[in-house]
Amino acid sequence: MSDEKPRTARTRARRGTKLRRRLSGLLALGVALVAVGGLYTVFTPAPEQAIAADPAIVREGQQIYDNSCITCHGTNLQGVQGRGPSLIGVGEASVYYQVSTGRMPLAAQGAAAERKPPRFDEAQIDALGAFVQANGGGPIAPVVEDGEQLRGEDLGRGGELFRLNCASCHNFTGRGGALSQGKFAPNLDPASERQIYAAMLSGPANMPTFADSQLSPEEKRDIIGYIKSVGAANPAKNPGGAELGGFGPVPEGALAFFVGLAALIGISLWIGSRQ
Ligand code: HEC
Ligand code: HEC
Repeated sequence: MSDEKPRTARTRARRGTKLRRRLSGLLALGVALVAVGGLYTVFTPAPEQAIAADPAIVREGQQIYDNSCITCHGTNLQGVQGRGPSLIGVGEASVYYQVSTGRMPLAAQGAAAERKPPRFDEAQIDALGAFVQANGGGPIAPVVEDGEQLRGEDLGRGGELFRLNCASCHNFTGRGGALSQGKFAPNLDPASERQIYAAMLSGPANMPTFADSQLSPEEKRDIIGYIKSVGAANPAKNPGGAELGGFGPVPEGALAFFVGLAALIGISLWIGSRQ
C-alpha cells in the first residue's frame, strides 16, 4: 500500500505526459495543416472567376454601351432591325471576342467586322462584358491573370481536336483560309488565348459555336495549347524548313517530288544533248 501510491502517481504522471505529448502532436499537426493551407492559397494561381457583377462596373459598362453600341444593338440589347443583332444570350464571351479584337464597335453600317486595334482597354471591355452579361446572360470566357494559363498541355489531343473541328476552315496550322461566298477564316496567330477561348464559346460570323458540351473546357485548353505551339510566335514550330502555306506534309512531299522529277529530267536531257 505504501509503495502502491507513488507508483500510481508515477503512472498518472506518465499518462499525463503521454496525453500532453499527444495533444502537442495534434496541435503541431493542426498548425502544419493551417500553414500548408495558407501556403496553398498564396502560391496557387487565383482560380478563374467570372467577372463579378459589381454594380459600379456594370454601370460603367452601360455608359460605354450607351455611347458606342446602343444605336445598332438597341436600348435593351434587343438589336435594331437592319443595324445590329440582339445581344441577349451572347454573353461576356462574345463581347470580349468582338471588342478585344477591334471588330466592335462596327465603324459604320454595313462595314465588315474585321480585326483591328481595339477601341477600348481591357477594363472597359470587361465593363461592357459585365453589362451585357448582367442584362442578357450567356457564356463567359474564363478570366485568368496570364493567358498562358489557358494553354492545355496535351498537344497531341489538342492537335487531333483541332484537325477534327477547326482545320477545315482555319487550315492545319491555323493559317486561315478561304470559305465559300468570298468569306474567309482568319489566321489565328494574332488571337490571344482568351480570344481563342471566347471565339469557340461564341462562334462569330460563319464559325460554329463550340459549347462546353461539345468541347469540354480541358479540350478547349488543349486546342489553345496546340494553336499556340504551331503559331508564328513559337520559333520551334517549323523544324522542317519552308512552311509552304502550312498545309502539312502532303504539299511538302509533292513539292520535293516535282522538283526532284524536274531535276532528273533536266539532267537526263543535258546528258542526252551532249552525246
Ligand atoms: C454600326 C453598328 C454597330 C455598332 C456601333 C456596334 N455593333 Fe456590334 N454588331 C453589329 C453587327 C452588324 C453585328 C453582326 C456582325 C457579324 O456577325 O459580322 C454585330 C455583332 C456584335 C456582337 C456579336 C453578337 C453575337 O451574335 O455573338 C457583339 C457581342 C457586339 N456586336 C457587341 C457590340 C458592342 C459591345 C458594341 C459597342 C462597343 C457594338 N457591338 C457596336 C453592328 C454594330
Ligand atoms: C466553318 C468554318 C470555321 C470553323 C470550323 C472554325 N472557325 Fe474559327 N473562324 C471562322 C470565321 C469565319 C472566323 C471569323 C469570324 C469573324 O469575322 O469574327 C473565325 C474566327 C476565329 C478566331 C478569331 C481570330 C481573330 O482574328 O482573332 C479564332 C481564334 C477561331 N476562329 C478559332 C477557331 C477554333 C479554335 C476552331 C475549332 C474549335 C474554329 N475556329 C473553327 C470560321 C471557322
